[in-house]
Amino acid sequence: MLLLGIDTSCDDTSAAVVEGGATIRSNVVSGQAEIHSRYGGIVPELASRRHIEMIVPVVDEALKSAGVTLKDLDAVAVCEGPGLIGSLLVGCSFAKAVCHAGHIPLVAVNHLEGHLLSPFLESPGLSFPFISLVVSGGHTSLYKAEDFGQYTELGRTRDDAAGEAYDKVSKILGLGYPGGPVIDRLAAKGDPGEIDFPRSFLPDTLDFSFSGIKTAVLNYVNREKVKLKKQADMSLNSVPLPPTLSQSRKENVAAAFQAAVVDVLVRKVEWAVAATGVKRVVISGGVSANGLLRQRIREMGDSQGVEVYVPSISLCTDNAAMIAAAGYHRFRKGLLAGPDLNPRAYLPL
Ligand code: KG4
Ligand code: ZN
Repeated sequence: MLLLGIDTSCDDTSAAVVEGGATIRSNVVSGQAEIHSRYGGIVPELASRRHIEMIVPVVDEALKSAGVTLKDLDAVAVCEGPGLIGSLLVGCSFAKAVCHAGHIPLVAVNHLEGHLLSPFLESPGLSFPFISLVVSGGHTSLYKAEDFGQYTELGRTRDDAAGEAYDKVSKILGLGYPGGPVIDRLAAKGDPGEIDFPRSFLPDTLDFSFSGIKTAVLNYVNREKVKLKKQADMSLNSVPLPPTLSQSRKENVAAAFQAAVVDVLVRKVEWAVAATGVKRVVISGGVSANGLLRQRIREMGDSQGVEVYVPSISLCTDNAAMIAAAGYHRFRKGLLAGPDLNPRAYLPL
């Protein structure tokens, strides 16, 4: 069974062809980092415009590299939310038009279900139940997954998502968007022990909070800049430039920030395992591309006898293969969408 998946939920235009819900025939992602980078975050209007430019070539390329045409498809799965409404509208309108014109069944997929089921693309033998940490730019949630379509939310962030904290800290350090990959790289060179940023463990709950650490980084950086300014003022030869942190100081800030975020994420996964007795863990979403998180979650699995599934980097960040994989299971249950499909910016799993 062949499905075309489409995801335009945020700032990546993606299309993929997946066979049997697990075998990737193609997975094309066209990112927009160069458009949003100078603004330090996504500009929704620019994202929608770019999706409109890219949706046709990206879908064409996905079909071509899979060696199929629209006629070969059993269904089209499109992400209906959550995400940026203008971005979602592009993918949904396109999918509805293609399905209407080609008499192809349409399936609507929740983006979070796509992330949650993405490990099946590499590990079709993965079995339920499992604990799933979905950690991205828009979400940080823990679920107990008992079957396809049966997910219980155990905890979620009460403020910023972990990826959002990465992006904001990157902006504070003047490192551009998206912040995750660049902070991950810097952190690998820094000393995580030089600065002690707070870890918000929120006792007795599996909820998260990442806004405090972002503020702690902002306060630290501002204090350091005041010190640099004072030193410059005292030096007669100084050039009055805006003070910036040295490269090694940025590396240490990145390393200390990352260590604190990853500590919280891994600890909460451990709590979820202890609370449910489910000794199988899956991580997904953009932040699961993080080097330290991948290492620490595997170590946790080894030391506590927990089976851990970590997707390849290309399947961590947004991609349409995960939408096709999730769509496959909905399609098999007969859960189809119609021409009245309307995307939703807010859509709980
Ligand atoms: O899943 P995703 O592509 O889009 C959303 O659904 O949000 O996740 C994007 C997020 C961004 O916040 C980005 O900074 C973060 O994932 N990210 C990372 C890494 N790569 C991407 N965060 C930490 N370390 C990384 N290596
Ligand atoms: Zn995502």
